[in-house]
Amino acid sequence: MEFGKQLLALFPYDENYINLNHASVGMEPIHIGQKRLYYLNEINKNPEKWYRFHLFDEMKRNRQLVADFVGSKINEITFVMNATQAFQDVLAAIQWKEGDTIIYTNIAYPAIRNQIKHLAKCQKLNAVEIVLTKEIVNDNVKILKAFEDAMVANKDKNLKAVAFDHISSVPSMLFPINDIVALCKKYNCLSICDGAQTPGHIDINLHKYDVDYYISNMHKWSFTVRPFAFIFIKESLQHEDIHPCIIGNYYGKGYVDEFNGKGTNDPSPFFTVQEALDFRKMLGEERIQSYSRNMAYRAGQIFAETWGTQVLHSNKDMYVNLVNIEVPFITTMVDMSEIAKDLLFKENFWLTHFQFDGKIYVRISGYVYNEESDYIHCSAVALKYIKQYAEKQTS
Ligand SMILES: Cc1ncc(COP(=O)(O)O)c(C=O)c1O
Repeated sequence: MEFGKQLLALFPYDENYINLNHASVGMEPIHIGQKRLYYLNEINKNPEKWYRFHLFDEMKRNRQLVADFVGSKINEITFVMNATQAFQDVLAAIQWKEGDTIIYTNIAYPAIRNQIKHLAKCQKLNAVEIVLTKEIVNDNVKILKAFEDAMVANKDKNLKAVAFDHISSVPSMLFPINDIVALCKKYNCLSICDGAQTPGHIDINLHKYDVDYYISNMHKWSFTVRPFAFIFIKESLQHEDIHPCIIGNYYGKGYVDEFNGKGTNDPSPFFTVQEALDFRKMLGEERIQSYSRNMAYRAGQIFAETWGTQVLHSNKDMYVNLVNIEVPFITTMVDMSEIAKDLLFKENFWLTHFQFDGKIYVRISGYVYNEESDYIHCSAVALKYIKQYAEKQTS
């Protein structure tokens, strides 16, 4: 099957919509969305049978599929709705003491930063933010030094945990997580990885990373239905006092049962793993990854050339299906947000935008249905809007 525009027939997008932001909420092919509806229908035919007797078996079958996909044991994986909830549950699974230190970075996803700050306030923890700059994010040696410096500075302040991204949101980049986990071991603290952007984006092997806690969204890049996230807690760290933030009927019954049963919800997205994996197999895993990576690389080149600017990462090994490109003329987020809204409503594409180290950037994705023509078209149209906006502001 040819990649590019031909594949759009398999997805539910509007005819003229161009998706340059697959990282946002992901998207499943139409037939996988239909499989989810099939399950909903099955549940509704006899809900008592499903919720009382089939639910845990079906969850188990799908947890095994996810565990195999990400290189973990089934009993280390539980499902929740989204990565935001997953991270909150991980924070709740750790036994904090007043005065403990948690380290995180300035480019952690906003919800995650907020949760850490809130936790620190409630539990009287020391929350330390590592400030990554353009210079640092361009060099893994400097990234590791920034992490190690923070760990050294806090090793005598009850250093308890370090939270880091696997593939960050904005700016988007791939972190050297094996090395960060090794540093956590060296300084005797827990490693918590936000992998919301990873399954289906890159190969994952959680046991190989030897990370302590890992959370992720299946719905972003894997082709399962949304909302669907998982939590990984290393077996050796599971204890009787791990509870989800929402305490349900299974209180005290252990990690897996407690997380499976947290009140009534719609489990049907969790049942779409096999179809998603079959679809990936049909397209070819290696082909999906190399095509998408190359699309993001080309997107970076095309946008930067059209706009007369630069991509954030000069080394292409530091990003995968998402590339960050500097925006010309625009200097504030307020202005860029107005342009992005105009582009969405008038031109049918969205530019995710953010401020980093004093500059405004957009983040563009490459995936199986994109083609270079998407980037040629959108970069030219966006430039027209950017120029018009900049002229209006100065006149
Ligand atoms: C790195 C990262 N972490 C966490 C999240 C939050 O994901 P969700 O909206 O599914 O909770 C996102 C969402 O884009 C993300 O990119």
